[in-house]
Amino acid sequence: MKYEKEISRRKTFAIISHPDAGKTTLTEKFLLFGGAIQTAGAVKSNKIKKHATSDFMDIERQRGISVATSVMTFEYKDFLINLLDTPGHKDFAEDTYRTLTAVDSVVLVIDSVNGVEPQTRRLMEVCRMRNTPVIVFINKMDRDGKNRFDLLEEIEKELKISLHPMTWPINSGKEFKGVYNLHDKSLRLFTASTKADDENVISISNLSDKLLDAKVGDRDAEQLREDVELIDGVYGELTVDDYLSGKIAPVFFGSAVNNFGVKEMLDTFIRIAPTPRDRETSRREIAAGEDKFSGFVFKIHANLDPKHRDRIAFLRVCSGKFERNKYYHHVRLDKDFRFSNPYTFLARTKDVIEDAFPGDVVGLFDTGNFKIGDTLTEGEDFYFTGIPSFSPEIFKELVNKDPMKTKQLEKGIRQLTDEGVAQLFTQFGGTKKIIGCVGELQFEVIQYRLLHEYSAACEFRTLPFYKACWLTSNDEKKLEDFLRFKQSNSGEDKDGHPVYLAQSEWFLNTEIQNNPDIQFHFTSEIH
Ligand code: G4P
Repeated sequence: MKYEKEISRRKTFAIISHPDAGKTTLTEKFLLFGGAIQTAGAVKSNKIKKHATSDFMDIERQRGISVATSVMTFEYKDFLINLLDTPGHKDFAEDTYRTLTAVDSVVLVIDSVNGVEPQTRRLMEVCRMRNTPVIVFINKMDRDGKNRFDLLEEIEKELKISLHPMTWPINSGKEFKGVYNLHDKSLRLFTASTKADDENVISISNLSDKLLDAKVGDRDAEQLREDVELIDGVYGELTVDDYLSGKIAPVFFGSAVNNFGVKEMLDTFIRIAPTPRDRETSRREIAAGEDKFSGFVFKIHANLDPKHRDRIAFLRVCSGKFERNKYYHHVRLDKDFRFSNPYTFLARTKDVIEDAFPGDVVGLFDTGNFKIGDTLTEGEDFYFTGIPSFSPEIFKELVNKDPMKTKQLEKGIRQLTDEGVAQLFTQFGGTKKIIGCVGELQFEVIQYRLLHEYSAACEFRTLPFYKACWLTSNDEKKLEDFLRFKQSNSGEDKDGHPVYLAQSEWFLNTEIQNNPDIQFHFTSEIH
């Protein structure tokens, strides 16, 4: 393998969580360990604050800042780690889902007080679809949280994944004394620390050692012995292959804000997390170690300044070596492009790079040639699969307020939907344009951007739909009949695939039952 050395040192992952569980804080600690930042608080500018929910411009501005931190690359113990940022705000959830297609594993943060929350559930669904390896970090152990065994059970049940504790906490809240590392049999006593060191780690290979009692007190020492015996009996040793295939998630306990329990996780992460994995395409599986370059666009970031309409397309390198100024084949457009200023993302700065390897993310300046899911190769015709669109949750009709600007509106909406801001459906037998989004905020973003970037005024009319389902069938006639019969509830997506727009769960279930020859899909990843 030509680039084995580069591939074997790379780990590309994302931290995901329900907002407020501690994703930003944990990101920051990782960067501290990696030496990428020196001060706490440096990542905060990336965070969309809760109170800003009504002020989308503020959010977009912050998203603008976040281009630099969209991908954070740092080195830790000879490994090169690409940490892909995911927006925490629920209205941008689809951005997050797509980012998950570009990583090889994830760290899931769960708040020990709140347990499994709605966003956690949905994010895990996406991970399960792709068998993404997951490491769980149970955060905020310095607060009075749920009983740990109950919490593990809740996570297993709600997220449909088996867990494997790697560390075990001694109490929580004010009584939190530390974590016992079940893997290397050491005790880390709880201290609030802001730097990366190994102080306060005591090796206790034999739990009957009286040193344990001396360090945590008789009662807690006894409890830990009981807990560990139970855990050992239930879980045994972690099988790394089960983690890699997404069946078992190793679990760590800690407190991100106190930088506690984070190092244990990071050390395990570099030991077991996958290096860039092989990927499915429309033609064949592409091995990360192949000599020839290939990659795909998973995110497009628009420049909000109307004077600089350039966008940045984020390309995940999947195989071979990406080189600056070399021509690559844009499969969808059947055209060759070269990039003179590809960007790499080191925390908080952007640098032009000469080359990149599998697992890396490159920022490409784009003047409108890319849409999400586009593949670049050295000439072979295939596209990477598994980059789905999810069924939107809010639907509105796009109403043109200025007939003189129809062309601009069409162009604007096409480009914005290429960026993945929203999905566009056209009703059959009419020209009604239906915009589907995951959050209300995106409608404001669209309206604002159409006006300011394309001089097109629009408004939205709420539609009574609840879900969009992509339809397939082996019986074309039946599908045609269904679409004709359900004309006011059906249309096509931007790529011409038929879609059923359901008014309610009841309608949807009824149609599914009444039409056994038609398959209803909740993501577009079916072709
Ligand atoms: P997010 O990115 O997942 O949305 O969460 P973020 O890291 O911003 O953390 C949310 C809040 O939880 C922050 O408090 C943060 O300080 C706090 N937090 C993170 N880790 C821990 C922990 O281990 N223990 C405790 N007790 N709190 C933790 P905030 O008040 O919302 O923000 P800030 O003003 O402290 O920055």
